[in-house]
Amino acid sequence: MSSSALSFAHQNYNRFLDELKDFLRIPSISTTPEHKEDCRHTAEVLAKELSRIGMENARLIETEGHPLVYADWLHAKGKPTVLFYAHYDVQPPDPLEEWVSPPFEPTERNGNLYARGAVDDKGQAWLEVKALESLLAADGKLPVNVRVLLEGEEEVGGEGIANFVASRPPELKSDCALVCDTEMFAPDLPTLCIGLRGMIYTEVEARGARTDLHSGMYGGAAPNPFVALAQIIAQLKDENGHILIPGFYDGMIPPSAEELATWKRLPFDEEKYRKTEVGSKELVGEAGYSVLERTWARPTLDVHGMPGGFTGAGAKTVIPAKATAKISMRLAPGMDPARAFEQYKHYVEKIAPAGVEVDVRLIHAGDPCVVSVDNRYVQAATRALHEVWGKDTVFIRSGGSIPIVGAFERYLGAPSVVMGFGLPDDNLHAPNEKFNLKNFALGIDSVIRFLEEAGR
Ligand code: BES
Ligand code: MN
Ligand code: MN
Repeated sequence: MSSSALSFAHQNYNRFLDELKDFLRIPSISTTPEHKEDCRHTAEVLAKELSRIGMENARLIETEGHPLVYADWLHAKGKPTVLFYAHYDVQPPDPLEEWVSPPFEPTERNGNLYARGAVDDKGQAWLEVKALESLLAADGKLPVNVRVLLEGEEEVGGEGIANFVASRPPELKSDCALVCDTEMFAPDLPTLCIGLRGMIYTEVEARGARTDLHSGMYGGAAPNPFVALAQIIAQLKDENGHILIPGFYDGMIPPSAEELATWKRLPFDEEKYRKTEVGSKELVGEAGYSVLERTWARPTLDVHGMPGGFTGAGAKTVIPAKATAKISMRLAPGMDPARAFEQYKHYVEKIAPAGVEVDVRLIHAGDPCVVSVDNRYVQAATRALHEVWGKDTVFIRSGGSIPIVGAFERYLGAPSVVMGFGLPDDNLHAPNEKFNLKNFALGIDSVIRFLEEAGR
């Protein structure tokens, strides 16, 4: 395996890494309004870098939220067009006190780079750009046509990119998409992700009394919105993890017997997973399904936080007038987010206890997807990964969601190659997020070789 682009990447690796550190210093947190300018700045840095390395038409595309970044290079006559996707926004870094080094001061420790966004997804966005740079610098051209579309709202539902893709703009016409935003199943095991769960993220607000009340004077007569939410939440799933919303599972498409058989052959140690990844006394979930089935292919429901009431130190005897619960559901292939939300809303309104009014709101939704594997792009990817990693690719699903993957297929007719380089212990969305540096380096090589194979 040798190509001049690979040599260029290897010779320039230290610079690539320094640039990634600078890139990670910008706190591009998409959910908090205070970081709006940081998100725009990050987009501008990307557009400028894309044009510096020789990509053309690099520009920001405005949305109602954070801007998209677009660029292209379309001079490979007769060759297919690959759409590069990644996201430049990151999750909030809290709880800050748990970070060993500060989230926006990228720090190397034992072969890893620690920072918020290191692996999800700025490190992987940067490796896509560096693969393009290596090819353009070494060969003066790309082996296929390339369009780049980067977003800054993936972590908050990706509405801007969804609207843009759904309008089928001519500048997105592509034969396949390359998505670098997932994980490898295990270290050194090249992985393609062929299924992602969808999701609905919701908020339930319960209102009781007109105003906060003294709990001694009114306790016994006034409704308590937190207790009401607890009662509602307790009826959303049973003790076996089965969701109780009527009709919720209708239409769900389970994985085939063949796919389930391939999952059984993956190197998975449930006890190690429990101890080192989850760190709980026991694993929970639906009886009769393996951990991989439960996290990859079954719908689930989780509560993320319950803002409201008194949360300060010490005690305050109050019956809060209102309380909120942030609740999301992961959806399996075949399930429709709009329908799932209607069923959920209807059920929550029905079971809400007397004395409270509930408001059930949808914050964002995304489709589940299964990716097709019998196409030349997936074949090109497995050849490339075999060369770079020296092993056969495993095909897995992920419990996480990347809503735009389904939209690429639906609106652009483009199958995705979902090729990610994270590791299971990279602490995505958690304190001490990291990117394994070997994976950063081999990720660049993998994308270079993928494009060379796709252009053969
Ligand atoms: N990159 C993740 C999704 C992911 C994580 C895929 C691990 C595969 C393995 C992505 O950035 C993410 O966190 N997505 C959100 C989407 C949601 C906000 C619509 C998620 O899954 O919670
Ligand atoms: Mn991501
Ligand atoms: Mn994420």
